[in-house]
Amino acid sequence: MDPFVPTNVPPKVTMDSDCDAFLQGPARSSSEALDPLAAFASPDGLDPQLQAFLEEACAQLCRWFGSANQRSPLPSLRLLPDAFPEVGGLGAERLLDDLQQVMDGAYHPTHPGALAHLDPPPNTASIAAELICAGLNNNLLAEELSPSLSQLERQLCGWFASCFDFPEGSGGVPASGGTLSNLTALVTARHALKLNATSDAVVLTSDDAHVSLFKACRVMGLHSDALRRIPVDATGCLRLDALEDELNRLATENRPCLAIVATAGTTVRGAIDPLREIATIARDHGTWMHVDGAIGAVFALSGQTRALMDGLGEADSITVNPQKLLGIAKTSSLLLVRDASTLHAAFGTGLPYMEPASAGPHGGEMGVQGSRPAEILKLWLGLRQLGMTGINSLLNAAVERRERFQQSLDAQALDLLSGPLHLLTCVPKDADSDRSERWSARLRQRLLDEQIMVSRPHYRGRHHIKVVFGNPHTSDALIHHLGMRINESIAGGLH
Ligand SMILES: Cc1ncc(COP(=O)(O)O)c(C=O)c1O
Repeated sequence: MDPFVPTNVPPKVTMDSDCDAFLQGPARSSSEALDPLAAFASPDGLDPQLQAFLEEACAQLCRWFGSANQRSPLPSLRLLPDAFPEVGGLGAERLLDDLQQVMDGAYHPTHPGALAHLDPPPNTASIAAELICAGLNNNLLAEELSPSLSQLERQLCGWFASCFDFPEGSGGVPASGGTLSNLTALVTARHALKLNATSDAVVLTSDDAHVSLFKACRVMGLHSDALRRIPVDATGCLRLDALEDELNRLATENRPCLAIVATAGTTVRGAIDPLREIATIARDHGTWMHVDGAIGAVFALSGQTRALMDGLGEADSITVNPQKLLGIAKTSSLLLVRDASTLHAAFGTGLPYMEPASAGPHGGEMGVQGSRPAEILKLWLGLRQLGMTGINSLLNAAVERRERFQQSLDAQALDLLSGPLHLLTCVPKDADSDRSERWSARLRQRLLDEQIMVSRPHYRGRHHIKVVFGNPHTSDALIHHLGMRINESIAGGLH
């Protein structure tokens, strides 16, 4: 089937008949209470009801994946089941029906035309691991609540740290998303530089850095002007001369710099700041260097692409989001630090209600979060499913898709903004703010009508069209079609 021709939503699925008896359960009036014990797995041998329930939920999910191509990546809003519990508890069939309704209205990252954001389809081992993680219900707060998983977490963070050329003694901690990893990094930096008592400290980053840094400064109670934005050059990379100027200005104002944040893969165009040079400047000025590598740091995992991340290992801390290009189910983000003891120093409390940890600090003593699921499980299993060859090929194929797309665009008529990674943003050269707004809105809708979803970032006063090539299902035919549509939109005066 042509992947970008709209089709109807598939008919509602029916369940396997041999599960029906259990799934429907006994008829109950709404006032009749379900025995709450039935909502928990039996500890006395295999629980057939649990097994049937999970099997049917998994089958439902598999059907959802399998129907991606017949849906839109962005379904229209529809009625949802009640959000609140009824008086009586529900049986499995009602629960699965309700789930299906929510699933029908969900964004579909597996659709080959889902190209708007940095949210690719999840890899299948990470889905299985997420289910197991929920079942294990271990808590990474403390070792006694997650003995094997705490160990796995330390080992996998150690592996990432060594891939990023961090020295012995480095380590890290997972956090629920890049926003939290960046916040954790800045709190750690402030503590390490003994600036906790100084509210006028400043964070330096580029004009194109992610908004999460702004949030972090606010959460940290810094002054409203604490996030100082440094201009970028024509390729979207932080300008070193402007960085030096700003550091000198801070010295004359007597305001301490708690960190310079370089971005390895900016959100709008995928630019990579000059990491090695920024590391040298940070060191010369006695400040911390954090790399927000939420998008780009994964490229250091592959021999073929690691040169793009030159200087990454010179940083004091690095955010990496395997939930993006590697397709680990959300959320999957790590903060890696050159010196693991800095995390414990910033966040350790002693955790007096837990037994001491045996092999390093408790997970809950290394970051902002206390109770935490074993997100490491899906990262670990997902990476093992891919293998180094799979990782390498995912990264390279994504960049190649962006390159092919770029070649198909009319560079005479469009401003093309892209770094060396897998995302590209464009706008008609002659469009002002109003025209770019109209052009991007009409083009996005026209593409959505063909089941292709792109995004519309507002960047430097104009709306752009942004395309992210992290979806391994996107075919060359679709890429070519998308390029043609964008070219047509200028020639046909869509703006
Ligand atoms: C460069 C960069 N940093 C940080 C983030 C925040 O990550 P999250 O959405 O996982 O909190 C993003 C999100 O896209 C990003 O692009």
